[in-house]
Amino acid sequence: MEIKQRTRVARSWDALDRILTAIEEGREDKPDWIALQADCRLDKIEKPERRKLVARMHPCVLRGFKANNTKIKKKKKRLDYWRSIASEGFHDFTDFGWMKSYDSPFKRDYDYVGAYLEGGLEALDPYAVYASVLGTFEFGVEDFVATKLCRNVGTIVEPMAGTADFAYEGHFRFPDYQYIMADLDEAAKEKVLAQPWLPQTDKHYLAANILDESFWQQVKSLSTGESLSLIGKQSHHLFDAKQLYKLLDVATRNVDYFMLEVPQLVTVTEMGGTDDMSRPEMEDAGFDVELVEEPDGEPNPFTNLMHFHLEASDEDGERALFDYHDWTVWQQPILVTLARLLDLECLYYHSEQFEFVSVEEDTEDCDVEDNVCFMLFTRRDLSGILTGNDD
Ligand SMILES: C[S@@+](CC[C@H](N)C(=O)[O-])C[C@H]1O[C@@H](n2cnc3c(N)ncnc32)[C@H](O)[C@@H]1O
Repeated sequence: MEIKQRTRVARSWDALDRILTAIEEGREDKPDWIALQADCRLDKIEKPERRKLVARMHPCVLRGFKANNTKIKKKKKRLDYWRSIASEGFHDFTDFGWMKSYDSPFKRDYDYVGAYLEGGLEALDPYAVYASVLGTFEFGVEDFVATKLCRNVGTIVEPMAGTADFAYEGHFRFPDYQYIMADLDEAAKEKVLAQPWLPQTDKHYLAANILDESFWQQVKSLSTGESLSLIGKQSHHLFDAKQLYKLLDVATRNVDYFMLEVPQLVTVTEMGGTDDMSRPEMEDAGFDVELVEEPDGEPNPFTNLMHFHLEASDEDGERALFDYHDWTVWQQPILVTLARLLDLECLYYHSEQFEFVSVEEDTEDCDVEDNVCFMLFTRRDLSGILTGNDD
């Protein structure tokens, strides 16, 4: 099911003030977005005034605001503008606009560039840089649980969670669900648990190896309602064939729906070399972020194995932020083959139909050729679920 969003448009400062006052006084519901248009230009007002206005908008919107009417040519001014908004609780890491976590009461500081300006590459927070270029923001829990298949989900599992953006963002929309995250990286766990969470949410971040069966048994015992698990950002590519086969087997025995984010269809040989991920504020601050092939990492077209790392660099040098050694690009037909060997049902999220559909039945208009896509594996008997009525 498509999720409808409501936008209020402000074409002047007076109009914006009227909208915000009505929301503050409880006369109007918060819209998902406020769109600033025409003379309502955040780049035309002084920094203190801009910060105040952005801070005022924060509690008045569910998702964020759009300000596509700005134009700043000079680097320094543009960076100042970006930082003044990012430090007031909105990020622009997607194409949607300036976003916050859904209806979040917490004003999070998204300005990861300030640390670099103070202390160079070594001062950069690798997790914040990762989240800005690769964080899971475009599709969220709400998209998947709005489907016929996953409407009874009550537990969200995020294995290989890292910064756990999927679970963290999801909990603002569905604070009553159970959230189970896991990673080998203790520092990532500490980072995620140090973030402000809504107090009513049940959450567990386990320092665990997700290839261990005991991890999945723990997930099952902690789950309430049906469970949906997502390994985001193609992280399952860190596993070899036997590990992935075992993971598909054991995970689907312990969660209802097991999802993998998979890349668009590209030949692996096109993936090597250097992939520039730099965002405008990075370039304005004077550094770049790239996925860089390792000296021995050239993609192998038979095994699809490659080695690379995420690197930040500036004129003084470079710093490796995260390592992607032993990365095998498991393309869709291979995943379907593994699923068949295990007698799993295999579906994918169709982003035009807003539903999970079987990989065997409906591939028209799916974005698998151009975009990442979400494949779902399950042992459940799906007869009646996908075609069932909408109540
Ligand atoms: C690409 S990063 C995280 C991406 C995250 N899923 C996202 O969507 O942003 C991959 C993560 O997998 C974790 N990891 C690798 N092998 C693991 C394993 N066997 N068990 C648990 N976590 C693992 C790493 O520590 C790292 O944090």
